[in-house]
Amino acid sequence: MIERTCFLIKPDGLAAKVVGKVLDRFEREGFNLVAMKLLPPDRARIEAFYAVHKGKPFYEGLLNFMLEGPSLAIIWEAEDAITRTRGIIGATNSTEAAPGTLRRLYGTDNRRNLVHASDSRESAEHEIELLFDLAESRRK
Ligand code: CMP
Repeated sequence: MIERTCFLIKPDGLAAKVVGKVLDRFEREGFNLVAMKLLPPDRARIEAFYAVHKGKPFYEGLLNFMLEGPSLAIIWEAEDAITRTRGIIGATNSTEAAPGTLRRLYGTDNRRNLVHASDSRESAEHEIELLFDLAESRRK
């Protein structure tokens, strides 16, 4: 089934200048780039994006990290995009992510983990709606 996922390269990925490497990985896996834009750090938008984590012990640290600089937001489309993307990026904690995954290669820890990817179709839809205008994410 063709799916879309909402993907972010977080501020640590931009600071480390590995955007090209991340994009290359997805292109080589055959993913289609539907939309992409650089998002300046914005507290209200980041709070809305991570609202499900509000109140968790790591929430404030997560917000501060995401405010360190811009993120690159992407909509990827591919067969089974959600599961495949999570395989490409690896576990949340970069130190525990499988060898060869993007987080293991370029992430640092639990918080500074390089990228975000939607964990379900529902969250993908919700996250795409939050970050992209209808015109940007329109199906061709
Ligand atoms: P992400 O996949 O974007 O979803 C929520 C984010 O919160 C996660 O990646 C990490 O950046 C961060 N996070 C999740 N769990 C922890 C944790 N235990 N400690 C610090 N940060 C965390």
